[in-house]
Amino acid sequence: MPVTIQDLSAHKARGERFAMLTAYDYYSARILDEAGIPVLLVGDSLGMVMLGYDTTLPVSMEECLHHTRAVARGTRRALVVGDMPFGSYQAGSDLAVANAAALLKAGANAVKLEGGLQVVDLIARMVSYGIPVMGHLGLTPQSVNAFGGYKVQGRGKHAAQIILEAAQALQEAGAFSIVLEAIPPDLAAKVTASASIPTIGIGAGPSCDAQVLVFHDFLGISSGQLPRFVKRYANLDEVIATAAKDFARDVGEGTYPGPEHTYA
Ligand code: KIV
Repeated sequence: MPVTIQDLSAHKARGERFAMLTAYDYYSARILDEAGIPVLLVGDSLGMVMLGYDTTLPVSMEECLHHTRAVARGTRRALVVGDMPFGSYQAGSDLAVANAAALLKAGANAVKLEGGLQVVDLIARMVSYGIPVMGHLGLTPQSVNAFGGYKVQGRGKHAAQIILEAAQALQEAGAFSIVLEAIPPDLAAKVTASASIPTIGIGAGPSCDAQVLVFHDFLGISSGQLPRFVKRYANLDEVIATAAKDFARDVGEGTYPGPEHTYA
């Protein structure tokens, strides 16, 4: 049975934590779906890990739609969440609703967008049209320029209060879950305890109802310094590099293709 937003609320009600991973293409979505990951996010992080942009800001609606279609084709059971890229929901709610609808037409079951009180009315409008919305608070990467870098958010009483109030407002607007990114763990615990919808943490400590990681980070296909909160569950960059070198060596030495790879 396909995972629904109601299933995620039921997980929270039963106190059962769940996992979300990002996915950007057909084949990885198929593997994660068959592995039983209940929520796949086609994050705008695709701009950085798939397309090589420095930030998520250049990502276009077209790029998100393209990757959402591929993930949806690879998914049978997981709930697919399509991310709304920078600029796709800030320039007026008619355009935002049209873009969210386009993500659902591309195969997403829900959309995610970043922001607090400034997106509350928009979320309420989308929800009233039958578009499930996942919120995103804390270190919202589309605001990297305003934050002056990728910095932990919600530190200090005032900043924490703003996030607590925003979480409450997103829930009241009808969001079905909220990503909490890079905030202190005690603040994430407070938001999680006060919300009736699931919180999904990334760099927000262990108290959230769910955790999310970026595909390339958790599999070790990323270069450079990873944020502290990333746990690498594999080292695929090494596996890929070794396989590529072995292939090049075999070709150079003439040992590939062998008779078993050659038509009689
Ligand atoms: O774009 C993304 O991958 C995200 C997750 C890190 C939550 O927003």
